[in-house]
Amino acid sequence: MTSLLPLLTSGPHGSRSHLTCQFKCGFACDQPVPNTSANEEIGTLVVNALARRSLIKGSAMGAGALVLGGLVSPNVAAAATRSINPLNLGSAGFVPVAPNVRDNVSVPTGYTYDVVAKWGDPIIKGAPAFDVHNQTPEAAAQQFGYNCDYVGLVYRADDRAVMMVDHEYTDENLMFPTGAYDADTIKRIAIQNHGLSIIEVERQSNKGRWRMRDISAAKLNRRITGTSRFELVGPAAGDPRLRTSADPLGRRVLGTLNNCAGGTTPWGTFLSGEENFNQYFDKNGTIDAAYTTSFNRYGLTGSGSRGWSAVDPRFDLVAEPHEAFRFGWVIEIDPLDPESTPRKHTMLGRMKHEGANITIASSGHAVAYMGDDERGDYIYKFVSADLFDPRETQSARRRNMELLTKGTLYVAKFTGDGSEDGVYDGSGIWIPLTTDTESFVPGYSVADVLINTRLAADLVGPTKMDRPEDIEGNPINGKIYCALTNNSNRGNSAMPVNEPNPISSSMTRPQLGAALVTQSGNRNGYILEMTEDGDDHTGTTFTWDLFLVCGDPAAPETYFAGYPKELVSPISCPDNVAFDAAGNLWISTDGAVLGGNDGLYRVPVEGPERGKVECFLTVPFAAECCGPLISQDQKSVFAAMQHPGETTGATFENQTSTWPHTDAFPRPGVIVAYKS
Ligand code: FEO
Ligand code: CA
Ligand code: CA
Ligand code: CA
Repeated sequence: MTSLLPLLTSGPHGSRSHLTCQFKCGFACDQPVPNTSANEEIGTLVVNALARRSLIKGSAMGAGALVLGGLVSPNVAAAATRSINPLNLGSAGFVPVAPNVRDNVSVPTGYTYDVVAKWGDPIIKGAPAFDVHNQTPEAAAQQFGYNCDYVGLVYRADDRAVMMVDHEYTDENLMFPTGAYDADTIKRIAIQNHGLSIIEVERQSNKGRWRMRDISAAKLNRRITGTSRFELVGPAAGDPRLRTSADPLGRRVLGTLNNCAGGTTPWGTFLSGEENFNQYFDKNGTIDAAYTTSFNRYGLTGSGSRGWSAVDPRFDLVAEPHEAFRFGWVIEIDPLDPESTPRKHTMLGRMKHEGANITIASSGHAVAYMGDDERGDYIYKFVSADLFDPRETQSARRRNMELLTKGTLYVAKFTGDGSEDGVYDGSGIWIPLTTDTESFVPGYSVADVLINTRLAADLVGPTKMDRPEDIEGNPINGKIYCALTNNSNRGNSAMPVNEPNPISSSMTRPQLGAALVTQSGNRNGYILEMTEDGDDHTGTTFTWDLFLVCGDPAAPETYFAGYPKELVSPISCPDNVAFDAAGNLWISTDGAVLGGNDGLYRVPVEGPERGKVECFLTVPFAAECCGPLISQDQKSVFAAMQHPGETTGATFENQTSTWPHTDAFPRPGVIVAYKS
């Protein structure tokens, strides 16, 4: 194993630096937990006596002592383990990458990687070349944005595709030479570095290798930024709370912010979640008391440190309080029509949307699974009223693009099945919140539920989760997988453990390459596996288990679906999930606390290797791994390198990463890894 440096930081929020906490989510974990409802915590469901003894007292537990998971039906196992096109990534396809702190992308022997696009790359025909010393908002609006997250592909031919990449947030300390720009110019440039990029990509002679198409020919290339025009659609569009002085009809919004994970729909569009939108709003004065209940539930305290109201008063919660209601949605964009106006879907509710992923139920309904990424917030699903039309015609596509405007929004309640079986598992129900015409929450209209989704959900008794991040249906076995990334408060008196959130506070456990440390809360996260009852995704009952309890395999509480712990890669803080064509789960991590860089991991979910977590790549120093995407032919692994070098105290002149080593400063970007 590569020798490891001591941990550089060890705050209460994973291994994240102070800067990441500030810029990425506005110190979300330093704020009071916004969910003050009395709803049960996933950690308060009953922890079985065996697990309780082992977890809370830290007593040793042998590998496999937790008998999690269930029997695998032979046909499912066969489907999941079939070899579609050995990715070159078949089960013997790579030797896992060992934990390391290199300032580079590390891939297995026999593989290599290319940068597909990086911060500042011109993507619009005529865009100026990137010059870090001469940045302007106008140039940024034509160049690849900062801190990429979700990566999606819509194929146009076997060797051509259009890619969407989210740009979640900016880190002004690393982007701008100290003193070179005035404060307001920095804000305007930062706004243009948010949003997303759409780029055409083409395959190379090595079939695993992709690159950006020449921008002079790439007519679909597009930048969406913090000021691009959006349309609000669905039942809440036009609601008085969505009206502002600039938009008296409440239907047109400028920009999308903090776009985190996303999804690619079966009808060839992209979805993206507006996550920590609250941090972009500040206040000049006192917030009208009429808004404080809602604002507090969304962390809209006006304490945002970006100061954007200085360049655009709509970011002032006092001057324009309704503007904040116009963020926190799932957006949909049609990558095949560069003139189309992207939309914000009010039917999918308003929260700190991590993302949204669509599964087509056997009945034909489109089902969107969604996580609200906050400590103690909930998992949701939406079921469309209308049916997906699988025909590849323009009219079918247009109809499909309306599927997310009408249907039913649900929130999840988990129940542990008790302490006898030694398994973190149980059952659950989807509690309906509203349809597009009828609310099920007493005292709440349809628009009330959709605009103040968190407050509405609080009233119906869902389960508080440990930061539900990406959640997605496995196309092979039909189960749903959700990354519960961590929760520094789990186990505190206000947020006790339970069966679905079983890891308690103040546990002493080993760190890779470091001494024993005492950590609070659920530090390494879980992968939750949900199985919808019946052969469909439209029902209201499910069963669940914890597929992975992440961490150092040497730590007694970790669990890898029963797979021998000595044979898995350490994994911490799962964030994004994806599947390859064989149904294997791929997990990217954010904030790993085990002492090595974040990475991308593959794990089979069925068959004899169920739970065998293997690290496929690690990211540059202090980066997080986002947007994993495995190509249909399994020859290419795309991933986003977010915030390389974002360490406490780093500045433009004092960088801790220079990846991808084209400049003296880091340039977050998307890579493709392939067999060389
Ligand atoms: Fe942007 Fe929840 O990660
Ligand atoms: Ca149990
Ligand atoms: Ca994420
Ligand atoms: Ca995250």
